[in-house]
Amino acid sequence: MTWNKPMPEHPVVAVAGATGVVGREMLKVLEQRNFPASKVKALASARSAGKTVPFKDGEIVVEEMTPESFEGVDIALFSAGAGVSKKFRQAVVDAGCVMIDNSSAFRQDEDVPLVVPEVNSHDLAWHSGVIANPNCSTIEMVVPLKALADNAGGIKRIVVNTYQAASGAGMKAMNELYNQTREFLDEEPLTIEAFSDQIAFNVIPHIDVPVGDGVYKEEWKMVVETKKIFGDDSIQVAPTCVRVPVLRCHAESLNVEFNEPIDVDAARRALEAAPGVTVEDDYENFVYPMPGLKQGTDDVYVGRLRADTTVENGLAMWLVMDQIRKGAALNAVQIAETLLPQA
Ligand code: A2P
Repeated sequence: MTWNKPMPEHPVVAVAGATGVVGREMLKVLEQRNFPASKVKALASARSAGKTVPFKDGEIVVEEMTPESFEGVDIALFSAGAGVSKKFRQAVVDAGCVMIDNSSAFRQDEDVPLVVPEVNSHDLAWHSGVIANPNCSTIEMVVPLKALADNAGGIKRIVVNTYQAASGAGMKAMNELYNQTREFLDEEPLTIEAFSDQIAFNVIPHIDVPVGDGVYKEEWKMVVETKKIFGDDSIQVAPTCVRVPVLRCHAESLNVEFNEPIDVDAARRALEAAPGVTVEDDYENFVYPMPGLKQGTDDVYVGRLRADTTVENGLAMWLVMDQIRKGAALNAVQIAETLLPQA
């Protein structure tokens, strides 16, 4: 059933997973964008109850997340893992609160829209209390592709290779890259806990668990989520997802085949006009976006834009996005903004 509870002008917002990498960034984004919340609650596990997290000029005391935490809350931004989202879904919705979930728990559910506001905010019209934030690698790709697809009769096929930062796997993983780098330089034994293999001075060609046919789950997510967001099952997506020793910001190399011709100049104009996209591309002068230099930014950066002459209607490009902001926290807050009563 479609959600019909009106959203107040100044909603009460809960950040569920407020002590994590994404949760902390959600608080920062709410503050930076002046989200008109009447109150912001910080929720995490019992381990963190009583600790504080920074918000605006002060701090918020973290509360243990329980089913009762959502009474009187209008919007809950969840980033505490899929298991926690599943456990609390019913309590959140029963409390009359909209759940914007950053985990993979409900992304493929038929009654849950999967939303990137620049691409498919129209899908928010049919939510029934839960809205899913897509996987970061999918968000990065669909934001610029939306502008191109609209000018080229839609997308036929995408070949994408990702270069994903350690922080995409959480705070522990980010610390593992720091600590392992030091251990490597000091010629100490490496501590390998958060990743399957050494991440310092290495790349790992798998993200998430095997799902069969040689595919890992991060790759499967990019396939099914792209189709759902564009509402087009015919789009073919061939991803290879790789973890690289970068702290923050995912990069992607894309080769895209469109249904109709689009030349490089038209593509550049479409990207320059697209919301949430910055073109940073000067081939002669070696200008292109790089993940080590884009931390804390909001847009998807596009460089290395060129024709892919090996296919009909082909373009190749290089993308960089801070996956903790647009790939998670910012996208969730933008969804929340779209739910506010329009002035
Ligand atoms: P806590 O810090 O208390 O463990 P990250 O992905 O960066 O590791 O962050 C995960 C977030 O999810 C943290 O805020 C963490 O809180 C929270 N979390 C993990 N397990 C639970 C749980 N069972 N109930 C509530 N919050 C949880």
